[in-house]
Amino acid sequence: MISLINIVLSLAVYIKNIFKHEGKLDSMNGNYWDDFEDYELAEIYDIKGYVEGLADKVDKAFSDLNEDYHPAYLGVDNAARLYSLIRENKPSTVIETGVCNGMSSTMILKALEDNKKGKLYSVDLPVVAGSIEGRTGAVLPPGKSSGWVVPEEYKHRWDLLLGNTYYVLPKIFQEIGETDIFIHDSGHSYETMMFEFGIAWYHLNETGFLIADNTDKNDAFRDFARAKKRKLYRMNYLALLAK
Ligand SMILES: C[S@@+](CC[C@H](N)C(=O)[O-])C[C@H]1O[C@@H](n2cnc3c(N)ncnc32)[C@H](O)[C@@H]1O
Repeated sequence: MISLINIVLSLAVYIKNIFKHEGKLDSMNGNYWDDFEDYELAEIYDIKGYVEGLADKVDKAFSDLNEDYHPAYLGVDNAARLYSLIRENKPSTVIETGVCNGMSSTMILKALEDNKKGKLYSVDLPVVAGSIEGRTGAVLPPGKSSGWVVPEEYKHRWDLLLGNTYYVLPKIFQEIGETDIFIHDSGHSYETMMFEFGIAWYHLNETGFLIADNTDKNDAFRDFARAKKRKLYRMNYLALLAK
């Protein structure tokens, strides 16, 4: 009897949550960035040519696949801004979730290498094209592994950990204690984003940044910023909170 009551209660909470998030999504349509301030970088580095070359390499690997498949990387402008932010802030430690082909990882690692300082921890649970029915975005071409586009010369600054962020992030933080920059680009469900933002914020150092892609998919980033009473910034289409 008690377990039946528990099941009914859980179901009610689940249904309530679905409607809660859908309602917020509707209210975000159209003017998502209205509440955000542009994050000004002191110096924008001339790096677009490099990012475009990287994007071409990834796109070429997809050209033989069914046209439904796409790599879902950060985008040229976002990647260039991310590079500039890391050049400007010279972090010792960066953590990113969501590697896939490795566009963002490459740009972060290149910035660290150009700074001659810092280490990147990346977490990915990769999906190869064709292995999950209906999944066409954020996939790897068959035969490739997570971060395949990352050049060898940057890998000495890189620790790539494969697995779900729910299991891997606590282990990373247990090992390193804190981070200067955290970048979310893994699974974009409300729950996964809130989980990652929560654990990252707790371990973010006093002058750190929390960055996320695809924040317009749900209200997680704005809810989190409000809960922490922080100003919302956008860096191109990446959302950013400063601790
Ligand atoms: C949008 S792609 C990352 C793109 C990458 N940041 C870039 O710019 O090239 C998202 C990646 O996160 C992975 N992923 C999704 N949910 C995850 C989770 N809970 N834990 C770890 N990785 C996850 C996906 O399989 C995919 O490889």
